[in-house]
Amino acid sequence: MKWHKAISRVWILVFLLGACNNPYKSTKNSETDYYITPKPAQIDMTEGRFLVNGKTLVQGPESLANEGIFLASMLSMASGHGLEYGNETQEGGSHVITLRLDETIGHDEGYRLQVAYDGITISGKTPTGVFYGIQTLGQLLPIQSTDTGSKEITIPAVSIEDYPRFAYRGMMLDVARNFFPKKFIKQFIDLMAMHKMNRFHWHLTEDQGWRIEIKKYPKLTEVGAYRNGTIVGHHPGTANDNKRYGGFYTQDDIKEIVAYATSRHIEVIPEIELPGHSQAAIASYPELSCFPNEPTKVFNDMISDASRKLQSGRTPKIVQETWGVQHDVYCAGKEFTYEFLQGALDEVIPLFPSNYIHIGGDECPKDSWERCPNCQKRIKDEGLRDEHELQSYFVRRMEKYLNEKGKRIIGWDEILEGGLAPNATVMSWRGTKGGVEAAKQGHDVIMTPTSHCYFDYYQSEDKEHEPLAIGGYLPVQTVYAYEPMPSELTEDEQQFVLGAQGNVWTEYINTPDNVHYMTLPRMTALSEVVWSPKEAKDWDNFKKRLRPMVHRYETMGMRVAKHAIKE
Ligand code: ACM
Ligand code: ZN
Repeated sequence: MKWHKAISRVWILVFLLGACNNPYKSTKNSETDYYITPKPAQIDMTEGRFLVNGKTLVQGPESLANEGIFLASMLSMASGHGLEYGNETQEGGSHVITLRLDETIGHDEGYRLQVAYDGITISGKTPTGVFYGIQTLGQLLPIQSTDTGSKEITIPAVSIEDYPRFAYRGMMLDVARNFFPKKFIKQFIDLMAMHKMNRFHWHLTEDQGWRIEIKKYPKLTEVGAYRNGTIVGHHPGTANDNKRYGGFYTQDDIKEIVAYATSRHIEVIPEIELPGHSQAAIASYPELSCFPNEPTKVFNDMISDASRKLQSGRTPKIVQETWGVQHDVYCAGKEFTYEFLQGALDEVIPLFPSNYIHIGGDECPKDSWERCPNCQKRIKDEGLRDEHELQSYFVRRMEKYLNEKGKRIIGWDEILEGGLAPNATVMSWRGTKGGVEAAKQGHDVIMTPTSHCYFDYYQSEDKEHEPLAIGGYLPVQTVYAYEPMPSELTEDEQQFVLGAQGNVWTEYINTPDNVHYMTLPRMTALSEVVWSPKEAKDWDNFKKRLRPMVHRYETMGMRVAKHAIKE
């Protein structure tokens, strides 16, 4: 007994000496050490810093291996030491970072992060919560230097309790107007994860390009993924560049990206547009049009030489080369259209674990349907009142098909016209009216009004000194000021508002650099809108935190719009 006591005294002494010798035990930190965006629900800053060096252990259960490996790799990059995740659970010791699941945490995506000079613990109710704790820890690390040598880095002591305000925290990227390579999509996903955004809405099909391989319909990518030219300048353009342009993702590419996103707790929601914005599919399979022999119109005759030649021969349908709303849409009368879309969706469904498939539904002019005998017959046979009800029939029929396959649909707010499909979620983009109406009808809603969420709009009124954009004016202050919960809704109705989403439409955004410029820092602001408690919102405080964040982005090689921090 005595012998044991003596040993334990020696250990206590060694431990205390060790602690006293730790030069970081009582380091005083300042507010600037704790610049985290989105702002956590609760943050208590304390004294001391945790030292990351070659002895640091990252440990936790096997069930958190995905998160642990992510953290070990993040710390290895920051420190230059090759750290690994181990699932032994060593108690104590001054070099241990522990991940754990904790049932007592009140929110599925919530986490608790405790950093002390002698240890770090990240707890979450689920692996997602733990992942968000890791993302917060990432923002407490020094901004990466390009120096890759090993170094000692320290993390300020803190106690954080955090959880999101909204369940749906989305970003949409249009890869159809302009195509973006797999590597860039992964970087975009990383950027989202860094800000705890959790839904990647991937706009994959458009008039100007079909971007997802469908084996049953190979022409969708052989023909539909390429256009013969693109207008120059703002719509209607000054000329056509006459450059063949395009690209697509193979099903293997899609699987790789979905797996990448999943490991970062981001759900990928594919959008397969119908019944409008479908000219790339029509160019591939002209029977999908009400009028397969009518040439595709390019507004103001801004057509490429190659397409003009095709149209003077026997190829009237081409992949669209200008922007805007097109009148040649899927025929809602022919059975072939539904067979085609079901066949395409049969291949889309297994690629995406998400419960949702976005079916578009926006901007579908009805004039082709008005003069199409097949569409008019469908209206008559189904006892529909008009073309709006025909669109509703189209969407309901696709919804039924997808529901039977275990998927739910999301559609832009036009799907309200002619009557909502029974289980549809509405994305409110033309203001908030559609969202309010859908919530009042008991449907889930995602808010993405042009006024606050369209990141293709200009960020400055000095448009001449900005990259060409679609129009509008949406500075980061306005994004930050957004309140997604419409005041018109009762408490019961508010539960249908799942969250909000920023949209990056890419008619005028044709390089990764430009996507970054248009997204940053507007996405940074939106992340706080959807994550942080409403009461925590404070523009001046956000702006203070934005400066180092911009520095962080720039160190990562990204171009950022800096209007807000120039003031
Ligand atoms: C949209 O911006 N047409 C949804
Ligand atoms: Zn038709």
